[in-house]
Amino acid sequence: MESRLLPDEPLITLDAYLAAGGGRGLERARRLPPEEVIDEVERSGLRGRGGAGFPTAVKWRSTLELAAQYDRSQLYLVANGAEGEPGTFKDRPLLALNPFAFVEGLLIARHAVGATGAFVGIKAKFTRPLERLRDALRQATGAGWPGAGEVEVVTGPDEYLFGEETGLLEVIEGNPALPRLLGPYQRGLFASDDAPNPTVVNNIETLANLPGIVVNGADWFRKAGTEGSPGTMLFTVVGDVESPGVYELPLGTPLRSLLVDIAGASDIKAVYSGSSNAVITPARLDDPLDFDQARADGAGIGSGGFIVYDTSRPILRILATLSAFLARESCGQCNACKLGTATITDLLERLCRGEGDQRTVRAIWQRNKTVTDQNRCYLPVGEQLMVGSTLSEYAGEIASGLGKPVPEINLPVPLIDDIDDATGKVIYA
Ligand SMILES: Cc1cc2nc3c(=O)[nH]c(=O)nc-3n(C[C@H](O)[C@H](O)[C@H](O)COP(=O)(O)O)c2cc1C
Ligand code: SF4
Repeated sequence: MESRLLPDEPLITLDAYLAAGGGRGLERARRLPPEEVIDEVERSGLRGRGGAGFPTAVKWRSTLELAAQYDRSQLYLVANGAEGEPGTFKDRPLLALNPFAFVEGLLIARHAVGATGAFVGIKAKFTRPLERLRDALRQATGAGWPGAGEVEVVTGPDEYLFGEETGLLEVIEGNPALPRLLGPYQRGLFASDDAPNPTVVNNIETLANLPGIVVNGADWFRKAGTEGSPGTMLFTVVGDVESPGVYELPLGTPLRSLLVDIAGASDIKAVYSGSSNAVITPARLDDPLDFDQARADGAGIGSGGFIVYDTSRPILRILATLSAFLARESCGQCNACKLGTATITDLLERLCRGEGDQRTVRAIWQRNKTVTDQNRCYLPVGEQLMVGSTLSEYAGEIASGLGKPVPEINLPVPLIDDIDDATGKVIYA
């Protein structure tokens, strides 16, 4: 099926975007009452592409309802372009190749929710997407797209928690990316007690789907995907595959088609969707890439970034690497998360050195139970899912390897800096 989000040729001038049919979604949305735009998005079944698959229209409506309870409250819209999940590299090519689709989607969303202000949070190190985004905003402003001139682009640090939605709000306010106790819909940007300023946070790709939905309608959107997970999604595949890259596919496509047929994986041992989901074993390769199926199985599709490890990789080394990433990125506001992720990582590294025994494995299980205690954010939940599922699924390999050092292999945390279009080579951070 045709790509909806990633064009074959970059659409980086407004003329090229308009010639390809762009711009009509915003025009149509502006002629409709905001409520009707939200109805159309609701009928489309669009779900967030940032990790949780939350229904976009439901998020908008509940934020609007909260905002309506306060006289002095503002409502803000924030686009999340932090793209910090290991194995994920899709918002950057989307912004670099089709920046106007995102800008148009952002302005449609702003009209739909009646946001006072719109912000884009993006890592400062994403220089090319940032340049394309700023250029697209300049061109859209010059062409008189309503609201384009008021969008504020805020650059942020190279930290995992910059992508966590409340960490993102903190950075926009000029603070470090430390997650808050309350969600953005309860306490948004520039909030005070009598003005909680409920804020909608949506992922870049989520917003880029809006022009198509508004101009072509919900039924068109639903022509791709499944009943519960409609549309296409940008899937990244890296690791032990012949053709790493980003691929746009209808939701519901079997995981095997993506990993084996398209990306050329073979001898798969374990697959992780980012660092914050349960492991996917080869037995699950025929599962559809679908938010509900994946969740029922305990492994979400997250932001659609898959890290593939083949049978040459020792599972303990993989697990220790991913756990070390979460331990490093944990901000320390919650003791159980910071100390728990660090202890689990230490114990895994001991096992890798061949120093532990079954008691070490039991200690990891024990610590994994409490790592989420009083957590402000989802990071330690990711650790719990990843560690618990891997210890269960690969219990045999782990038990038989106890007491033997795991070979040292070069296994980077798959934080992607770039994927070379010409060679397909992945450059890790
Ligand atoms: C530790 C952590 C990191 C996250 N990183 C990102 C990110 O880089 N980009 C993103 O869009 N969402 C990220 N999220 C999810 C956001 O908190 C939020 O759910 C999302 O931006 C909502 O957009 P959506 O409804 O369009 O999916 C992260 C969540 C957590 C817990
Ligand atoms: S749960 Fe962990 S990462 Fe999240 S705020 Fe608490 S310490 Fe920081």
